[in-house]
Amino acid sequence: MKFRINGGKRLNGVLKVQGAKNSILPILAACVLCKGEVVLHNCPKLSDVGSAIEILVHLGLKVEQNGEDIRVLCRGINCCEVPQNLMHQMRSSVVFLGPILAASGCAVISMPGGCELGPRPIDIHISALRRLGAEISDEHGMLRCKAKNGLVGTQIDLLFPSVGATENTMLASTLAKGTTVITNAAREPEIVDLANFLNACGAKIKGAGSSTVVIEGVKELGGCEYSVMPDRIAAATFLTAAAITRGDVTLKGARQEDITSVLALLKQAGCSVSVKSDEIRALCDKRPSAMNIIKTLPYPGFPTDAQAPLMSLAAVCEGTTMFVETIFENRYRHVGELIRMGADIKTEGKVAVVNGVERLKSAAVTCTDLRGGAALFLAALSADGTSDIYSIEHIDRGYQHIEKDFAALSAEVLRTE
Ligand code: EPZ
Repeated sequence: MKFRINGGKRLNGVLKVQGAKNSILPILAACVLCKGEVVLHNCPKLSDVGSAIEILVHLGLKVEQNGEDIRVLCRGINCCEVPQNLMHQMRSSVVFLGPILAASGCAVISMPGGCELGPRPIDIHISALRRLGAEISDEHGMLRCKAKNGLVGTQIDLLFPSVGATENTMLASTLAKGTTVITNAAREPEIVDLANFLNACGAKIKGAGSSTVVIEGVKELGGCEYSVMPDRIAAATFLTAAAITRGDVTLKGARQEDITSVLALLKQAGCSVSVKSDEIRALCDKRPSAMNIIKTLPYPGFPTDAQAPLMSLAAVCEGTTMFVETIFENRYRHVGELIRMGADIKTEGKVAVVNGVERLKSAAVTCTDLRGGAALFLAALSADGTSDIYSIEHIDRGYQHIEKDFAALSAEVLRTE
């Protein structure tokens, strides 16, 4: 499958933002801890969500997906092993480790494969679970975890504000004996969404969104009805598409407080950005200007997931933009493909220097990862002529029917063999 994009046209229109991939995934993992019915709204239809549902079904939960609603019948789990084929569908399945361990006292998962963004170890996850009393051994790439007497709350100082490790620790300590204090916790909005979901099920979590999260262990969790937050990276992607095509796009259901760092950069590039309660509009009617330095940081800094899409914009800005990718080791794999479209980019380690060109050239390009694929999509929208984008399964992991959403903004895009 590929996307065939006829670029060089201004985007124009209004679009509702999908639910957040990086919030629905840990919330689905949290269902392992629940007893009762969970009804989730605003769930994006993504292959990663499908993978998470497959894991829940494998563990013994009943799951129904109906459009953007997911209903989970949580009745405890009848196995604690996630087989390799299910683990390797997505790296973030490691977030099932904490809840499975907390719910059943054991967990066996295969080490999540590294992925296109670099090695992506899980040492911070493992040291946190060990602090809660888990015995964890790594045999032939399988992680075998036991907590015979259950998990016991304690203070856990994260070496790095890892999003996944914060989520895993929050999930594991929800049913632990006593209180857990996580310091240097990740502050991403998805952490707050997960805590809100868990509290709606009866958990006692305070401080989510700050660097110190306090979880008071409870006996058990019930079910609840919950709406997933809007996807801030999808929002950033569509607003950047408005800038790169010198168009006018309004997003409904987007929360500007989740992407203030991205909005500041779009304004710096010369876009006019206007915000209402749950609506963001980006309008750009001239060639954007360079954004100087863009450094990825843990929230509330500039999000690493928006680095690739913003690089496509920088590629056509007037002037030079320097990127510093501080979160992942290998997150410039889209650069080679952008260069094939005429971009002038040089990378050296964590740094990428982008000298803007007037126009990119249409080409046949291949996605290397999810957000790199989004960057190629934006570049193809801005380049005159017809571009083909291959390996689009990467994009489908994080954007639900991206071609329909962009077509609603008057892009000419086709999903074809
Ligand atoms: C989450 O990944 C997101 N994924 C990523 O989004 C996002 O880029 C990342 O957070 C940072 O915001 C989901 O939420 C499903 P981390 P995660 O643990 O949890 C290192 C996308 O495109 N690290 O904060 O894996 C790690 O190698 C995806 O939607 C350790 O060294 O991110 C990385 O360099 C991509 N040891 C850095 O920390 C650990 O134990 C950030 O990782 C854990 C992480």
